[in-house]
Amino acid sequence: KEKAKAKSYAKIIWFGEHSVVYEKPAIALPLYNVDVHTSITTNTNGQTIECRYFDGPVNEMTDNLKGIRVLIHELLTIFNALDLNFHLKIESKIPSERGMGSSAATAVAIVRVFFNLFDVPLSRDRLLKLADIEEKITHGNPSGLDTATASSETPVWFIRNRVNHQIAINLPRPSLVIADSGIKGKTGEAVSMVHDRLVDQPELATPLIDQLGQIADKARLALRSSDEALLGKLMTQSQSNLAQLGVSTKTLDLFCKIAVQHGALGAKLTGSGLGGCMISIVENQIDAQKVATALRQAGATQTWIQSFKNYKFSI
Ligand code: PMV
Repeated sequence: KEKAKAKSYAKIIWFGEHSVVYEKPAIALPLYNVDVHTSITTNTNGQTIECRYFDGPVNEMTDNLKGIRVLIHELLTIFNALDLNFHLKIESKIPSERGMGSSAATAVAIVRVFFNLFDVPLSRDRLLKLADIEEKITHGNPSGLDTATASSETPVWFIRNRVNHQIAINLPRPSLVIADSGIKGKTGEAVSMVHDRLVDQPELATPLIDQLGQIADKARLALRSSDEALLGKLMTQSQSNLAQLGVSTKTLDLFCKIAVQHGALGAKLTGSGLGGCMISIVENQIDAQKVATALRQAGATQTWIQSFKNYKFSI
């Protein structure tokens, strides 16, 4: 083929960030309207790439994009096409370093576009393994939750190295409101902060991590009974545990408070924390607009509303 296209989604961790690293369950959602599109054409000279950070030959890509460079090399090796001429374009609506899984989504969309180009079927397992090549270089020791969600059309129930399935959500009225604090998240720093707490103060940190896992379990049951009020409470409890682990910030705490003051049923940070985004659950569209407006007035650089209605499916 001369041309191929692919896409993937931003991810939001609803329950279980940090505890997922310690093999507790997590629930994450793809955001359908925050996506990455890749396209590739082969009627060009050389091997070039065009994205938000770089426009030029693949072998001149800057070191912060090393994960992508290595992934592309692996894909070309798989297809026995190391001397293929191509131009790869990556168009992303996902803000980077905000806990929305920008790098994982990019990796997923790159793997898909090469498999589409060569017309080779791609299993989910293989897709995740290949995308994780980039994630391991960019993030060290990722749980795999980002690639699992970026590649999914449905919400995901995830336990590291063990479980990765779809989860049914039947909430026709409520929505999630997501707000960007405008500050970069610091995944590596936050993950090692939690690790250090577990080593230095196990009597405090271990129960906090265990409870985060139990909250994710309870959230799964609350989803079964479509109990949005309970989901809100569980989000607020998660936020309290994450703050006690040291990964929240004043801004994220303030945004959570403002969301609840403006009618949200609960709110928490999402992703690694120390910056990045927060999410809140609201009962209906009107509340969603109110909460989003209040958060922007409080300084959120961007807000998104994701209706759960779109996720309605049965398994
Ligand atoms: O902020 P993000 O999107 O990098 O999310 C990190 C989530 C953690 O649970 C803190 C780490 C991980 O690898 O799952």
